Amino acid sequence: MAFTEPGDGVIVQSPVYYPFFTAVTLPGRRLLLNPLELQDGCYRMNLAHFEQLAADGARLMFLCSPHNPVGRVWRADELEALLALCRRHGITVLSDEIHHDLVYPGHSHLPLARLADNAEDIVTAVAPSKTFNIPGLGLSALIVPCPRRRAALRKVMDQVHMTAGNPFSIAAFEAAYREGDAWLDALLAYLDETRRVVAAHIAGRLAPIRAIEPEGTYLLWLDCSGLGLDDGALKRFFIDEARVGLNPGIVFGEGGSGFMRMNLGAPRSRILEALDRIETALRARD
Ligand SMILES: Cc1ncc(COP(=O)(O)O)c(C=O)c1O
Repeated sequence: MAFTEPGDGVIVQSPVYYPFFTAVTLPGRRLLLNPLELQDGCYRMNLAHFEQLAADGARLMFLCSPHNPVGRVWRADELEALLALCRRHGITVLSDEIHHDLVYPGHSHLPLARLADNAEDIVTAVAPSKTFNIPGLGLSALIVPCPRRRAALRKVMDQVHMTAGNPFSIAAFEAAYREGDAWLDALLAYLDETRRVVAAHIAGRLAPIRAIEPEGTYLLWLDCSGLGLDDGALKRFFIDEARVGLNPGIVFGEGGSGFMRMNLGAPRSRILEALDRIETALRARD
């Protein structure tokens, strides 16, 4: 609302955190979809298609970095190519980096704004809500280097009376980032082990379900297309037969059909119980 006018195009790369869609469509902006492509088990951005959309009146893009739900941690060369395209076409980037602390060994998160000498056309969103498990406190942050964009954003927030946090959320935000290193190190080690155990379990026992290896986030993107079920039947299979509640991939937009998203951010015993239930339900179908 702050950076575009009604009718302007906004590029979103699906499958993605689904509030991105309504953030574009409810205020009357045009959703320009640039679906990610799955190649050899890894998702990539389709920059050729992005360029076509850019030429079709795009003013803004929503980048999800790391990407929920597919678990990519975008590499420097991918981000550089994207930023170059956005700059060529005068597109502002809203870089949602809320999952940036949750990155597995062998990968590193690169803030998009770090790539630019002048980051005035980049707005970065961060929050301690994922990393430190405090979403209920409801305080997130936007880093907006450009004074004009900052003023436009303030105006919209004032219009909807979106005021800054409260004493609890502000204290928790500051404490998490200042003192949370040891917690985060322990969390990442735990999640990495969960990721490893779950990958082995799925590969060995849950065929034809296949996991896309996450490079970051506590989310696991499961390719369930091998079950041959439509999206309604797939959801019912997990709820009624396996008795496990996952997020249906279809809600994340184009490219999500046939997938389910599993949240690994829980005690490992609970995750393993869920996998056992899925295995039992699969066997009962055979
Ligand atoms: C990519 C992404 N952005 C934003 C949010 C929500 O963030 P907040 O805690 O600031 O409401 C989520 C939560 O699921 C998310 O996955």
